[in-house]
Amino acid sequence: MKYPNYRARRMRRTENLRRLVQETRLSVDQLIMPYFVQEGIRGKEEIQSMPGQFRFSLDALLKELESLKKLQVKHLLLFGIPKEKDAKASSAYHSRGVVQNAIRRIKKEFPRLTVISDVCLCEYMNHGHCGVVRKETVDNDATLPLLAETALSHADAGADIVAPSDMMDGRIGAIRRTLDQKGFTEIPIMSYAAKYASAFYGPFREAAHSRPSFGNRKSYQMDPANREEALREIQMDLEEGADMVMVKPALPYLDVIREIKSQFRVPVAAYQVSGEYAMIKAASKTDYLNERNIVLESLLAIVRSGANAILTYYAKDAARWLREEF
Ligand code: PBG
Repeated sequence: MKYPNYRARRMRRTENLRRLVQETRLSVDQLIMPYFVQEGIRGKEEIQSMPGQFRFSLDALLKELESLKKLQVKHLLLFGIPKEKDAKASSAYHSRGVVQNAIRRIKKEFPRLTVISDVCLCEYMNHGHCGVVRKETVDNDATLPLLAETALSHADAGADIVAPSDMMDGRIGAIRRTLDQKGFTEIPIMSYAAKYASAFYGPFREAAHSRPSFGNRKSYQMDPANREEALREIQMDLEEGADMVMVKPALPYLDVIREIKSQFRVPVAAYQVSGEYAMIKAASKTDYLNERNIVLESLLAIVRSGANAILTYYAKDAARWLREEF
């Protein structure tokens, strides 16, 4: 690799040459669009901290999915916001719950879209924590049956993939056993395996009305300082039956994505979370950054680090921009 025999710039001369030697490619097939479906509203409401993102009524969401289909985005992740919250998250696993109803309608009208359901209790708990609260702490083992029940109700409604995001220990095994017992052996689990206790989730909690009413999530989500622990989390989830593992947030944790990919060689997803979205939005509003270029570069970097799939609120925009490229 010695100058002048090697000239790195030779293959950078034209757009075509650059494309020829491009090592990483971003494709619309990798993108998963998250949606919030809310019970008891009409139309859609914009989320204040996430401009351009909405809480949808089911009818409004079905209309919205036409545009997803047109842009050839093939996968979506569903979050539900129920009317009723209580201390055991009853509406999370109700067969006629907001997400269960949405899954059934979406699969009926858009059978080819991959419907991934977020499995968590925080949106359904009156205290906003991801599990059953006993004496001001989240009780791990008491939460597992509720999570398994929730995942089962999603699979039963027709979800293509269930995605537990609660960070309780043992939930992947509990969900896998329940799904298998009930005949859903073919339904994959996408595990939010390395989910950090991150300040980047701020806008989401406003969006999903899931801010904890006391304390924080540090006793179950991971410390941002830890990388080895992420490997243990991944290993545990794979042993319990996860088919795909997720790192979340994405851009501040590329080293974690890279290391997981090289150690485990399994499908990896990365979640470009609400705060990452909000930051780019805010900066592009002031013209400090070019939104399109920043988004495409960030998503490409996430893929380069080792992610096979990306959950991003920019999925639709990115699909459009990828088409317009060239
Ligand atoms: C639910 C859940 C959260 C996110 C995804 N699933 C919030 C949280 O853990 O507080 C965050 C997604 C985002 O910020 O875009 N447990």
